[in-house]
Amino acid sequence: MAEIPGWLTEGQARMLWDAVQRLPAGATVVEIGSHQGRSTIVLGHAARTVGATVVAIDAFVDGRLFGGASTRDLFEANIAAAGLEDVVELVVGYSTRLRPHWTRPFELLYVDGKHDYWTYVDDLRWSTHLPEGGEILVHDCFSSIGVTAGTLDKVLLGSRYRYLDRSRSLARFTVRRPDLTDRLRVAAQLPWFVGNVFLKVLLRLRLRTVAGWFGHHGPYDPF
Ligand SMILES: C[S@@+](CC[C@H](N)C(=O)[O-])C[C@H]1O[C@@H](n2cnc3c(N)ncnc32)[C@H](O)[C@@H]1O
Repeated sequence: MAEIPGWLTEGQARMLWDAVQRLPAGATVVEIGSHQGRSTIVLGHAARTVGATVVAIDAFVDGRLFGGASTRDLFEANIAAAGLEDVVELVVGYSTRLRPHWTRPFELLYVDGKHDYWTYVDDLRWSTHLPEGGEILVHDCFSSIGVTAGTLDKVLLGSRYRYLDRSRSLARFTVRRPDLTDRLRVAAQLPWFVGNVFLKVLLRLRLRTVAGWFGHHGPYDPF
């Protein structure tokens, strides 16, 4: 994973790995947003150890950030180099277009696709295919404004998802009715979110040195 560009930290990779380790043999993981395969390779190697498989969904969106068709080539080369072609199945398309027609059940959902409120909330609806107690991992939670708004709406105020924990911006939810304590634990993440928005404003204003005073180093938004 370390050789593949992307936004997943080592601690977050560990969290993905551990989530797959809790799955039974024959299980399926669905990943929305694979990019060059940094997270897919972690999921894929973990899946192999338990006898699971990974469905990687990506539209390979054009543009400077995600790179379009050439990113697909890199993804396929990275999966092949990792020896994971028999574990990882690539499905090319927009998650929001695929979801209404999807019928295959799966046991773990990893959401790291488009980060606006509407797409993220739609991506959460893939969890209708999860069993009760199934886990959902969400990247850029409490760092992206769209993902955080969706989390406040559907997790803090909703009745279907329970917040478990997080590694920086990688949050873990389960499909279970939340109680008041679960909701309060979501609210307790908001100061961290406010700090991240503050850092993003500094980065947009090109004040990287000032962001460094607050412990944020490098050009990327906090993740
Ligand atoms: C943040 S990157 C994923 C990073 C990846 N998980 C990793 O660890 O490197 C987001 C990816 O989602 C894809 N994407 C954006 N919107 C999408 C959508 N609606 N459906 C499917 N993929 C989408 C982009 O093409 C991009 O590759």
